[in-house]
Amino acid sequence: MSNSFLSFSSVTKKITMAIAGLFLIVFLMVHLGINLFILPIHDEHKEWFAAAAHFMGTNWVVKIFEIVLMAAIVIHILMGILLQIHNWMARGTRYKVAPKSKTSFMSRYIIWTGAVILLFLAVHFYNFYFIKLGIVEAPAAANIPHPQEEYFYEIAVYLFTNEMIFNILYLVSFVFLGIHLNHGFQSAFQTLGLNHKKYTPFIKGFGKVYSIVIPLGYMIIPLYFMIFG
Ligand code: HEM
Repeated sequence: MSNSFLSFSSVTKKITMAIAGLFLIVFLMVHLGINLFILPIHDEHKEWFAAAAHFMGTNWVVKIFEIVLMAAIVIHILMGILLQIHNWMARGTRYKVAPKSKTSFMSRYIIWTGAVILLFLAVHFYNFYFIKLGIVEAPAAANIPHPQEEYFYEIAVYLFTNEMIFNILYLVSFVFLGIHLNHGFQSAFQTLGLNHKKYTPFIKGFGKVYSIVIPLGYMIIPLYFMIFG
């Protein structure tokens, strides 16, 4: 394999990973928007959440979106692992001294913040998504008649009120999600060559705000049940 082939394939991997990552960034906003209905923000918040969950579980456009989402998750993770292995191999043979810039420091650790998010997703799918797919039973103590997406509200309230371990696990994961997004957002725009004199500072600023506001938004849900549950 020639060097140029290796570097070409690395660029392709980076671009694929960045596009999948940007798609996941959009998903995280939609997902948070729906999940915030778990909180008592309105008299009919339960009905709104159930309606959103039902729509997400039955609408065919959403079902296609779900397949694209799962593909984006798998592609993003796979490309990340392959690029990381490539980097480790290159570092071992090419560099005697590790680069010390802030960016390289962050990129070196992004694989580990990603690994924490992957672990979180395994637990999270066990908590909700696998119940919908019928792979996992809903927690018996949650008293759910027919475990379907309509009961995600009851499952969420049960988990965050009775299972402190999940509150802690979710909260810690959201901190890692913020760190991952903070670097990943800028990295994706750089990879896609969207760097621009005028717009780059705005993109960087937006990335910073996004990587703080979105994880904080997710944190509000377990925190609410920890404090008021
Ligand atoms: C407190 C925070 C969260 C709550 C309450 C929550 C709740 C849920 C629920 C109820 C579902 C099932 C929806 C369905 O299948 O129709 C779900 C699925 C899912 N969640 Fe979360 N989630 C949270 C945070 C996150 C985060 C931070 C991520 C990503 C890092 C994430 C990724 C996913 C994915 C990929 C699915 C499966 C796809 C889908 O069904 O939409 N979730 N979540």
